[in-house]
Amino acid sequence: MSKRKSPEDLRSFRWFGAKDLRSFGHRSRLYQMGYDQQEIAAKPVIAIINTWSDINPCHAHLRARAEEVKRGVWQAGGFPVELPAMSLAETYVKPTTMLYRNFLAMEVEELIRSHPVDGVVLLAGCDKTTPATIMGAIQVDLPTIFVPAGPMLRGNYRGQPLGSGSDVWKYWAEKEAGKITELQWSEMERGIARSYGTCMTMGTASTMTALADTLGLCLPGASAIPASDAGHSRMAALSGARIVEMVFEDLKPSDLLTAKAFENALAVHMAMAGSTNAMIHLIAMARRCGVRLSLEDFDRMSEKVPVLCNIRPTGAFLMEDFFYAGGLLALWKQLAPLLHLEERNVVSTIGGAIEHAEVHLPDVIRPLDNPVAGRGGTAILKGNLAPDGCVMKPAAA
Ligand code: FES
Repeated sequence: MSKRKSPEDLRSFRWFGAKDLRSFGHRSRLYQMGYDQQEIAAKPVIAIINTWSDINPCHAHLRARAEEVKRGVWQAGGFPVELPAMSLAETYVKPTTMLYRNFLAMEVEELIRSHPVDGVVLLAGCDKTTPATIMGAIQVDLPTIFVPAGPMLRGNYRGQPLGSGSDVWKYWAEKEAGKITELQWSEMERGIARSYGTCMTMGTASTMTALADTLGLCLPGASAIPASDAGHSRMAALSGARIVEMVFEDLKPSDLLTAKAFENALAVHMAMAGSTNAMIHLIAMARRCGVRLSLEDFDRMSEKVPVLCNIRPTGAFLMEDFFYAGGLLALWKQLAPLLHLEERNVVSTIGGAIEHAEVHLPDVIRPLDNPVAGRGGTAILKGNLAPDGCVMKPAAA
């Protein structure tokens, strides 16, 4: 980490603090927006990249969270500016959001690069938005903190929990077989997504936000907080406060995203039986950091790390249960012998973050000697149909 920055070292100082004609223009436009010079003088300008949209249910709360991030930024002595970015709602964007992941990464990169900002807060969570926003931020390498959108509440059908994705296929098959009625199907339709937030199984969203957290980009453990829990708002405000300090400390993604940090992410991915889509995203993120990850690295880690999270689709529970069980910090604690504990995050290290962590529900987050499955949640297969390898999820034991 470099020495502590002074206000004159800030990138935004060139826009707002200089005596030249260009700075005159920037300051006059600040006045136009109703701010006065002392409101920005010597303050880090914090970009809040917001992937909210009216048609993204997973991010419906991010407008409110942006305001909470701003609260934290103002309190810590920063100047927040919200910059909207493409939303990529997994359920609505056609033909597939994957077409737009790199487009969003480029948009985020250019938003950061082209504006007078010193630090970045990323608000995202629905599948592609996590890798995309992080990939964009890696390219610019300004101090960055990731605020994960958080999982939605458990689904509910007549008192039974419903899981995003997996239960849709299951009950669709039952309906097609004539085993459930139109009325029951309609009740499920209204009960499967009960709040804003991302899918609450261990799908791509929960996997990627947990990996971003493990890479050190979040307040530790933030990714497990349900979107509608009041703690999610507190986490957003604290993230806003923390990014201001990170600017002065010059704590950048390149300080956090080391080869060992990616090894930790691989280990957590296996222990969670995370989404197979993580291969595509994690490899792309790593390469932007100059870290070479390959399918063989996933396979190697799969041999070493058992599945500890008893979360659907591999296991029995949902992300809300994972949060009650202690969340990601509890998983790191169980996995500690297999992690690089010295790896840093935006406030401390993995080892520091788990000092007081506890597992409250040991059937949801299992210990290493009683795993859900004896080997990792992902296997790489090679053969004549896929000479370079393809991915499969072995069934849990
Ligand atoms: Fe957004 Fe699943 S549709 S996380």
